[in-house]
Amino acid sequence: MTFPTTHTTPKIFSFFKKEKFLSFKTANAGLNEKTGIVNFFESEEDFVQLQNSLKINQNMVAESPAEYGDYQTNKQLAKAVCENLKKKNINPKILIEPTCGKGNFILSAIETFENLEQIFGIEIQEKYVWQLKFSLLEYFLENPEANKPEIHLYHCSVFDFDFEHITSQIGGREMLVLGNPPWVTNATLSTLNSKNLPTKRNFKNAKGIDAITGKGNFDIGESISLKMLDLFSKENGHFAFLIKNSVIKNIIYEQKRNNYPIANIEKQTINAQKEFNAAVDASLFVCKFNSTPEFTAKEIDFYTATPRVTLGWVNNKFASDTEKYKKYQHLDGVCPYEWRQGIKHDCAKIMELERIDGGFRNGLGEEFELEEDLVYGILKSSDLKQEMVDTPRKYTIVTQKRIGQETLPILEKLPKTNAYLQQHKEYFLQRKSSIYNGKPLYSIFGVGDYSFKPYKVAISGLYKQTRFTLVKPNGTVLLLDDTCYFIGFDTLEEAESIQAELNKPEMQEFINSFMFTDAKRAITKDLLMRVGIGKNALVLF
Ligand SMILES: C[S@@+](CC[C@H](N)C(=O)[O-])C[C@H]1O[C@@H](n2cnc3c(N)ncnc32)[C@H](O)[C@@H]1O
Repeated sequence: MTFPTTHTTPKIFSFFKKEKFLSFKTANAGLNEKTGIVNFFESEEDFVQLQNSLKINQNMVAESPAEYGDYQTNKQLAKAVCENLKKKNINPKILIEPTCGKGNFILSAIETFENLEQIFGIEIQEKYVWQLKFSLLEYFLENPEANKPEIHLYHCSVFDFDFEHITSQIGGREMLVLGNPPWVTNATLSTLNSKNLPTKRNFKNAKGIDAITGKGNFDIGESISLKMLDLFSKENGHFAFLIKNSVIKNIIYEQKRNNYPIANIEKQTINAQKEFNAAVDASLFVCKFNSTPEFTAKEIDFYTATPRVTLGWVNNKFASDTEKYKKYQHLDGVCPYEWRQGIKHDCAKIMELERIDGGFRNGLGEEFELEEDLVYGILKSSDLKQEMVDTPRKYTIVTQKRIGQETLPILEKLPKTNAYLQQHKEYFLQRKSSIYNGKPLYSIFGVGDYSFKPYKVAISGLYKQTRFTLVKPNGTVLLLDDTCYFIGFDTLEEAESIQAELNKPEMQEFINSFMFTDAKRAITKDLLMRVGIGKNALVLF
């Protein structure tokens, strides 16, 4: 039990001293009258503990574990969100805050929505449940005339909570699901060995390589949002959640399959750096329940109400800017070439080399000689800023010509390269990715015949810019690393003509109409494969 006595202000302290509650039952009755909170103390033990900790008045508020994705909404923002909803004539009788934390949304909702009859708040961290109880007590002590809804606060995981308890009480009344769910991904949770996950663990059914490459990665906030839509979207009311833009994109993307009865969908962008000191793009996601399903969201600036773009589905195609997409949709198609990702070795210190007089230098600063047989120039995302590149800054050792090929027979014929790799064998053995398990020593990935095509058209997967670079050989062919995507060509003419087509202004506009610049990786293989280029391109419209 942790009572956050740092939040028991002098007012609360003197309230408990003055009231001199004799038992937890009389305390609960008195506190219910003052605050509307049902079962302020859940047990006798809670009550005794609070009495003791008020005597000691010690600081017991601990740091939140990372697994809880803990970014509490500040009071000002919570109030601004409630005012924003009220302006849309949203005035609920029931409020649900499924991960309520310190409860600034609950407090602001009480101040803003005068029709509130019932509030349900759920929170996994007990210290916040107590902090909220004290804040509510303080609020009602200061505002005894304020509207006093019945308040139920639960110390529980939203994934274990029995929502039937709430759904059975709604009875058609206007409701609002309001909040800001945890900002943490299942990948982070797995590194923390956390169990803070929905029961259906792989809820998007990502398998094998997708799970490894991150396609199966999802935000806990996303699973909580979908759970709320599953539970409540058929009720009368609204949904308003502060969530990452990537989560909003996924909700709208999945809406095609989920078909939730939601409409008037808005993505109101906020400044997450200013509000949460978090380097992510986030917005207030708002929609109306119990409506004919819609499949697009209007993007609006939260602070100025300036409308921006609309994102979502245009027939069977997903776009980041539906209006722009409609203008260029005749370019949508299937790329007849296969876009490839470059070479992956996860061993930069040993495999990323600089050429120096008479040899090479690695990332450890060591200088050595190698045979030239397996050495290739390699380009990284940051090398793809020009229209054409034919000179590498870095070199690498290509230990295989295809995935899984035995490495040792080739190396036996190259004593210097073999010795260099052997001396640094440990670095290869320590690579964390499971793709190297059971593969020959010094294995690399993203290698095949395509890697050795002389001409390439390439683009960085790390940046948001959509210009394509022509890569030409320089003595030997140049390779790309796994932060880049490319198509390989046998002739300069074909490579130049595809590059020119991709860099045409209308093609650039088209790509921008379905690229999500706030995604961690805006350029993906899926995106590139949608660009129908070349004479064999399959144009879909
Ligand atoms: C981003 S914070 C926001 C808190 C609050 N909604 C607000 O707007 O200030 C997310 C909250 O979710 C809580 N949380 C994390 N996992 C949870 C779970 N499984 N069930 C309930 N609450 C959870 C965290 O402790 C934290 O208070």
